[in-house]
Amino acid sequence: MAVMPARIRPRLAALALLMAGTAAAHEAATGIVAERMRAMEDIAAQAKAIERALKASSPDAAGIRARAERLHAHAHDMLRMFAPGSDHGHTFAAPEVWTRRADFERLAHAFDAAAEGLLEAAHTKAVPDVRERFASVRRQCLDCHERFRTPGAERRP
Ligand code: HEC
Repeated sequence: MAVMPARIRPRLAALALLMAGTAAAHEAATGIVAERMRAMEDIAAQAKAIERALKASSPDAAGIRARAERLHAHAHDMLRMFAPGSDHGHTFAAPEVWTRRADFERLAHAFDAAAEGLLEAAHTKAVPDVRERFASVRRQCLDCHERFRTPGAERRP
């Protein structure tokens, strides 16, 4: 590796420190916990891309549809990824995911329905409707994270 200019090194060190917590959890997570972390990362990536696309003056409809489809597939699979027994080890999921299961399931179903609504709008509706549906999906992320994700993960979307 090339020698790095001295002025860049401290910044990289700070960044590494900032990311260490999450990265450590990722490396240590296994099985279904690792799978759901990857799925959530992908959900976030799709949401970001849709958000960006919807800001364009003439949004790329096919691209948005493909991403909405992927987001919906993850949403539909969510309860499986928080299976009973997957509540320990390196996870940011709050214990309430399992102890207040009915509430968690309600939010997971609401997310699934919102994602389905987005997908449907992306196929049949005009851009303002797609934007509205997307805003509703976004609200579901925050609602669920507020209640079911531990504070240690709060800097994440
Ligand atoms: C029904 C609940 C629920 C919904 C809806 C939800 N999440 Fe999550 N999300 C969680 C939980 C719980 C975790 C922690 C998982 C773990 O660490 O095991 C999480 C973790 C994450 C993470 C961190 C993953 C990692 O790498 O550690 C990201 C990013 C994320 N969610 C993004 C989103 C986005 C974006 C949306 C909406 C488009 C969303 N989530 C919708 C419950 C939800």
